[in-house]
Amino acid sequence: MNLIFVGPPGAGKGTIAAKIAAELSIPHISTGDIFRQNIREQTELGKKVKQILDSGELVPDELTIDLVSDRLSHSDAQAGWILDGFPRTETQAEALDEFARVDEVVFFRIDDEEVVKRLGGRRVHPASGRTYHIEFDPPKEPGFDDETGEPLIRREDDEPDAIRHRLEVYRKETAPVVDYYQRDGRLVEVDAAQPIEGVFEDLRAIVEEVQNR
Ligand code: AP5
Repeated sequence: MNLIFVGPPGAGKGTIAAKIAAELSIPHISTGDIFRQNIREQTELGKKVKQILDSGELVPDELTIDLVSDRLSHSDAQAGWILDGFPRTETQAEALDEFARVDEVVFFRIDDEEVVKRLGGRRVHPASGRTYHIEFDPPKEPGFDDETGEPLIRREDDEPDAIRHRLEVYRKETAPVVDYYQRDGRLVEVDAAQPIEGVFEDLRAIVEEVQNR
C-alpha cells in the first residue's frame, strides 16, 4: 500500500506515520528525516541543505525528487510505503506520478494555533527521529529517549521565527498539493487536532478501506 501524508508542519504526520508503518511492516519515508540524517553525518547533501532546513525554506525540487525516486527503488519499499513530507510542491507531486502509484493521500487538517503549541513542545531523538511532546506525548524520563536513554533535542527549525516561516511556505507551496490530489479524488481528510489515539484510529480505518478496495 502506497500512502502519502500531507499537512502543515507539526500536524502529527511523522508521529502517526511511524505507528501505521510499523503495523503494516512498510517503511516510513520522511524526506525531512533523510535530510536531517545527512546533516548529522555531514555528507555533501547534508552540507548543501543545512541552511535551508534551519531557515524553514524548501530544498530544491530536483534534488528532492531524485532522492525520493532513489529511495522508492530500494527493496524494502517494494511492498508499499508511507511518504511523509513529500510531495511538498505541485512539481514534486507531478514527478511522483511519473515514477510511482499512489493509493491514497491523507490530509492532516489542523489550525496554526495548535501547530505552534505542538512544535514548541516537540522533542526528538536525533539518531532515530523518534518524536515526543513535553505535554501531549512525553518520554518516560523527561529529556531522554525511551529506547536508548539518549538525550532528546529541540529541532533548529522549531524556533518561533522558523515555525512562522514554515507555515508561510506551507501555504504558498504545499497547499496547492492538497488541491492537486483533491481534483482527481485521491485525497481523504483526517481531523489532526484530535489526541494521537483518535488520529491513529481514523488512519487505521482509512488503511482498512484501501485494503478492501
Ligand atoms: P519535515 O521534517 O517534513 O517537517 P514538517 O513537514 O515541517 O513536519 P514536522 O516534522 O514539523 O511535523 P509532523 O507533521 O511530522 O509532526 P510530528 O509528528 O513531529 O521537513 C523539515 C524540512 O526539510 C522542511 O522545512 C524543508 O526544509 C525540508 N524538506 C522536507 N521535505 C521536503 C520536500 N519534499 N521538499 C523540499 N524540502 C523538504 O508532531 C509534532 C509534535 O506534536 C510532536 O511533538 C508530537 O509528539 C506532537 N503530536 C503529534 N500528534 C499529536 C496529536 N494528535 N496530539 C497532540 N500532540 C501531537
